[in-house]
Parts: sequence; structure tokens; C-alpha cells
Amino acid sequence: MAIRPYIVGNWKMNGTRAMLSEARAIDRAAQRYMKVEVAVAPPYTLIHAVHREAEQIGVGAQDCHPGNEGAHTGDICASMIADAGAKFVILGHSERRQDHGESNKLINAKIESALEAGLRVILCCGETLETRDAGDAENFVLRQLKAALPAFTDPAERLTIAYEPIWAIGTGRTATVEDIAAMHGAIRQLLDETYGEEVSSAVRILYGGSVKPENAREILSAPEVGGALVGGASLSAESFLGIVVAAS
Ligand code: G3P
Repeated sequence: MAIRPYIVGNWKMNGTRAMLSEARAIDRAAQRYMKVEVAVAPPYTLIHAVHREAEQIGVGAQDCHPGNEGAHTGDICASMIADAGAKFVILGHSERRQDHGESNKLINAKIESALEAGLRVILCCGETLETRDAGDAENFVLRQLKAALPAFTDPAERLTIAYEPIWAIGTGRTATVEDIAAMHGAIRQLLDETYGEEVSSAVRILYGGSVKPENAREILSAPEVGGALVGGASLSAESFLGIVVAAS
């Protein structure tokens, strides 16, 4: 089955209403590259505003609380994110695992809550440089996924995996195409074993970690790379669209 490339911008803790012009530019340009699925995950404060601007691109969130609405000051649950117009949520990002001590168990609970609210999920995984240098990267990433993957009762196109080696995030260093292919192959094998090959084949595996217009074509050409999760380069319509063009 031909996989439609998925290019997702993770704006992280960036973005005021001035960013809406970038979102508009991305949305208008994405209409010329329909072979690519394009989406952005702005901060909570901009989800509804970007959703109102978007005709073509998907809008998502960068996290959610594992529970339902209630007495959780400062938190936002999956149903509220869906109500604001988001169609997906990024979960298990290494920055949240590090900054908030998120466990695989908590991430699994968030995934189940997000699927229950009708959201699609992008589940992040990735190793530290120390783990890679110790030769344990694949085992570490597969342990992360085994502990967080949801039990599936509906089509798997609602699940996307994002492999983001922590040492490549925001550093300008990317993993080699060989390392990306090896890790994505191992993740695909785990998905085949977990869900069966037919369901697994609908699950795209994105690469994230210093993806830029100049390296995107090579990265996206690696086996089992179904798209990219882009941080810094997604904050400018010009650079983000350079990656969309590379995927088209
Ligand atoms: O979630 C995507 C992000 O972690 C990658 O960041 O800035 O290296 O593209 P960046």
C-alpha cells in the first residue's frame, strides 16, 4: 500500500498570534502538495486559532492529561483538545519525558484517553547519545514502545510513531540514513508482531531530529520512513514547506 508521507510541525513552546501568518502560508502552500499530509502542533493557546485558519493542514496538540475533564488545575484533557479543533496529539516526546518525568505507563494512559476522545496519536520514542554509544539504542527504543503501545480495537491509521534520537533534537546533527533505516526496520517488525502486518502497514513511522530542507529528501528516502516530525524548521513557513516539497 502506497504510504502518503506525513510531515508534522511541532512548534513546541513557541508561537503567539503573530505565528498565524506562518500557519496561513503553510496551509495555502500545502494545497499544492496534496500527495503529502501536512500538519502542525501549535501550543494549546493557538490550537483553535490555527484550526479556524486551516483549510488543508491538520492541527494537533503536543500533549494531554490522561484523565477526563475535572479538578486538574492547569491541565487540558483530550476531549478539550478535540473540541478546540485538534485532530491529533503528540505523546511521549523526549522533552516531556525529561522535563516532566513522564513514564511509559503514563504515556500509555494518555494514548488510550486520546484514542477514546477520537484523536489520532503520534507516539514519540528515542534514545540518548550514551545509550546509542553503548550499542543499546534499538533495545531501548523497542522497550519504550512495548510499554506504551495501545491495544488496538480499530484501524491503525490512528497511530503514528515518531523516532527521534534525543541527541539529534535541536542539535543540527541527524542520524545517518543507515541508522534511521535500521531503527525504523526494528520498529516496523515490532508493529508487525504486535498488530499483524496488515494493521501495522497503516502505521507510519516518522523520523525527527534536525530535519531541514537540505537533508529531508535523503532522510525521507530511507526505508520505512513515512514522514518527519519537525521542530525548529517548522517555525518558518519557508523552511517547513521546503521539507514538504522534499516529501512530495
Ligand atoms: O518533535 C520534533 C522535534 O523534537 C525535532 O526538533 O528542532 O531537531 O527539528 P528539531
